[in-house]
Amino acid sequence: MSLLSVSGLAVSTHDGRALVSGLSFAVPRGGRLSLIGESGSGKSLTALAVTGLLPPGLAATGTVLLDGTPVIGATDRTLDRVRGRVAAVVFQEPSTALDPLMRLGKQIAEPLRRHRGLRGAALRSAVLEALDEVALPARVARAYPHEVSGGQRQRAAIAMALACRPALLIADEPTTALDVTVQADVLALLDRLVAAHDMALLFVSHDLAVVAKVTDEVVVLSGGRPVQSGPLRTVLANPGDDYTRSLVASARRLDAALDLGGVS
Ligand SMILES: Nc1ncnc2c1ncn2[C@@H]1O[C@H](COP(=O)(O)OP(=O)(O)OP(=O)(O)O)[C@@H](O)[C@H]1O
Ligand SMILES: [Mg+2]
Repeated sequence: MSLLSVSGLAVSTHDGRALVSGLSFAVPRGGRLSLIGESGSGKSLTALAVTGLLPPGLAATGTVLLDGTPVIGATDRTLDRVRGRVAAVVFQEPSTALDPLMRLGKQIAEPLRRHRGLRGAALRSAVLEALDEVALPARVARAYPHEVSGGQRQRAAIAMALACRPALLIADEPTTALDVTVQADVLALLDRLVAAHDMALLFVSHDLAVVAKVTDEVVVLSGGRPVQSGPLRTVLANPGDDYTRSLVASARRLDAALDLGGVS
């Protein structure tokens, strides 16, 4: 059984406008898959729908199973149990996950307390370990989000997401909001941590070059629908539809920055 199994997913507004439709994919335990597509293609809504985090006014239909637990229609209680432990999300904008008024150490401690039952000295040392794992110095524990850099905020958000050792990490454009120089570091960190902890990864990006660095399997979304899917190299070699062709063409223009062997 797949760790994440999505079948016939649709996301619609309450007045019936379909924003995502006909989407099916699966991520096996320890596997990796990227959703790639232009702005507005439905990537973030898909990431939110599979974790039961859609904003009010939007509803999902279809089947989403997270480690066997149905997500669509699940109670908040069920979702609370699944989120953090089975799947955790890293968003494009680290501030989404962080409370501006709470010290970072306390925020990282929260999921450790809630899901792993840690207290006192054990909790403090788990927080320092979590910071160390994302290459943040211990003093960051005392800082508020606005007192650290954007790259450090995203590292802290990653530390929070990983605190409970989720089986699946969902990363929605995790490096897009960062300076170019910091992007590669944060991407390498994610890649390393996902591998080190045998996590599965659902990666979301509009950027083929970034996707090529972290995953082999892709689903290409356009206008809320899947237009192509399969191993990245196959999709690149046979871009079956217009949108995928335009993605590949723009990636070729980035050739110098890419190493997609056999594509150019
Ligand atoms: N709360 C909402 N209510 C109505 N429409 C929405 C809502 N959220 C998103 N949409 C619409 O759904 C479509 C898909 O949005 P989504 O955020 O999933 O795109 P995306 O692929 O993540 O884009 P980006 O690369 O810009 O992040 C867009 O047309 C967007 O305007
Ligand atoms: Mg998005």
